Amino acid sequence: MKRIEMKYLKEQPLELHKPKVVSKINLLDVDERYKAITKATNNTFLLRNEDVFLDMLTDSGVNASSDEQLAASMRADEAYAGSKTFYRLEKAVTSLLGLPYFLPAHQGRACEHIISRALVKPNTRTPMNYHFTTTKSHILAMGGIVDELIIDEGLKIQSDYPFKGNVDLKKLDDYFKKYSKEEIAFLRIEAGTNLIGGQPISFENAKAVTERCKKAGVMTVLDASLLQDNLYFIKVREKGFENKPISEITKEFCQLFDIVYFSARKFGFAKGGGIVLKDEKLYNKMKEFVVMYEGFLTYGGMSTREMEMIAVGLEESMEFDVISQGPIFIDYMVNELVKHKVPVVTPGGGLGCHLDARSFVPHIKQEEYPAGALATALYIVSGIRGMERGTLSEVRNPDGTEKLADMELVRLAIPRRVFTLSHINYAVDRIIWLYKNRDLIGGLKFTREPETLRFFFGELAPTSNWQEKLVKKFKEDFLNKY
Ligand code: F0G
Repeated sequence: MKRIEMKYLKEQPLELHKPKVVSKINLLDVDERYKAITKATNNTFLLRNEDVFLDMLTDSGVNASSDEQLAASMRADEAYAGSKTFYRLEKAVTSLLGLPYFLPAHQGRACEHIISRALVKPNTRTPMNYHFTTTKSHILAMGGIVDELIIDEGLKIQSDYPFKGNVDLKKLDDYFKKYSKEEIAFLRIEAGTNLIGGQPISFENAKAVTERCKKAGVMTVLDASLLQDNLYFIKVREKGFENKPISEITKEFCQLFDIVYFSARKFGFAKGGGIVLKDEKLYNKMKEFVVMYEGFLTYGGMSTREMEMIAVGLEESMEFDVISQGPIFIDYMVNELVKHKVPVVTPGGGLGCHLDARSFVPHIKQEEYPAGALATALYIVSGIRGMERGTLSEVRNPDGTEKLADMELVRLAIPRRVFTLSHINYAVDRIIWLYKNRDLIGGLKFTREPETLRFFFGELAPTSNWQEKLVKKFKEDFLNKY
C-alpha cells in the first residue's frame, strides 16, 4: 500500500474489508445486563453470548472468515488418510514458514502437548520470554520447570518501549552460565507475548537469542500463535524492515528457530494448529504422539474444511493490509483512552486493549479481584465482555492464601476482521464514562470457588450493593443526556 494511504490509516482507522455475511448482536438495556451478569455469577466466562453486545473475551477461534476461505472449505477432501486437503495445507505451511516438516494438531495447546512430551524430561528447564497459561501447564505436567527472561520493561504497564516482549540478553547469558545444555529442554519464544498485553519481540532480539542458543547447543521453539501481529510490529517499528514484504519477514523470522508451532485459532483465521520443524528424527518421534493424541497424520484432529481455511488464512496473513487492521484498531483504542487518562497497557500491542485495573480502581484490594470487578462493571454499562487477567486467574498458594498477580488487567480482545470503528468508539465512550464513575465500583468475593482453573467457572458476588448504585448512576446520566 502507498505510504500516504498508510499514514492516513494510522490516524483514521478504516476497515479494508466489507461485510458479506453478518451476525446479529444484541444490545440489551442496562437492567437486563445487570440481571444477566448476576445470573452469570459475576464471571464473564459464564455469560451467554446472546446477552453480549461486543464479545471481547478473546481473539481465539472468533476471527471472521473471508469469502476465499469459505470457498476453499467447500473443496475439502474428507479422506481419513492421504487427503488432498492435507497436502495443500502442508504445502502452504512449509512454504510460508520455511521449515520442511509439518505435523497437524487440533489447536495450539495440542502442539504444546506434543512438543513437551517429546522434549521435556522431569526437572529440565524451559526458559522463555514469558509464559502462556496452556504452555506452562504442559511443561509442568511433564515435570519441567519454566523460567522467564523477559526484559524489565516488559512488565511496566505504561511504556513507550516498542518491543516489550524481548528477552533480556544479559539474563540469558547468565542463564547459560548457570545451567548446562543437558539441564535445558528447549528455549521458547512467544511472538506477540499474550499475558503482558500482546507485546512483540523484535527480529534483532530473536536473532540474538537464537544465535546464543545455537552456540550453547539448546533447541529453540517459536510459539507463532500471535505471530501475525508481531510481523506487523517488526515491519513498522524495526529499522531495516520497512520495505520488506511480510512473507519474507515471516520466513526469515521462523527460520531462526528449530521448531515453530501455532494456534490457527489466531494465526490462520480458522480453527486448528500445527508444528513445523527442521529435524527429521524429531519429526518422526513427534509423529507418534500425533497419531496417539490427535488423529491420523493427515488431519491431526482438525476438520478438513478448517484445514482448507487455514491454508488460505495463512496466505492472507502475508498481506500487510490484512494484518495491519488489528494493531491499528487497537492502537486507536489505546490512544483514545490515554487521551482521557484512562490507564491502559502502552504502547498498544496486538491481540487487544488491556485496561490496568490496579490504577483504574486503586481502592479495591487485590484480594477482592479489581480486574474481575472492573470486567463486570464494564459489562453492566456497555454489554462488552472482557476477560479478567489478574489475581482471579491465578492459583492459590499451597497454604490457601491468594497469590497476587503481577498485573491486574481486563483484556478487551479485538478479534480480527470482526469489529468496526463504531464498535471501538462505543467501547471507548463507555469506558470513559466508567472511568469517571470508577469510585462506584466495588470488589468481588467467591461464593463457589473451584479448585482448578477457578476463573473459568468460579461463582462470585459483589462485596456490597455497588452494582445497583452503578446502574442507578448510569441511568441518571444517560437519561439526562438523551
Ligand atoms: N499460545 C498462545 C500465545 C496463545 O495465546 C494461545 C491461546 C495458545 C498458545 C493456545 O492455543 O487456544 O489454540 O489451544 N490463547 C487463547 C487466548 C486461549 O484467549 O488468548 P489454543
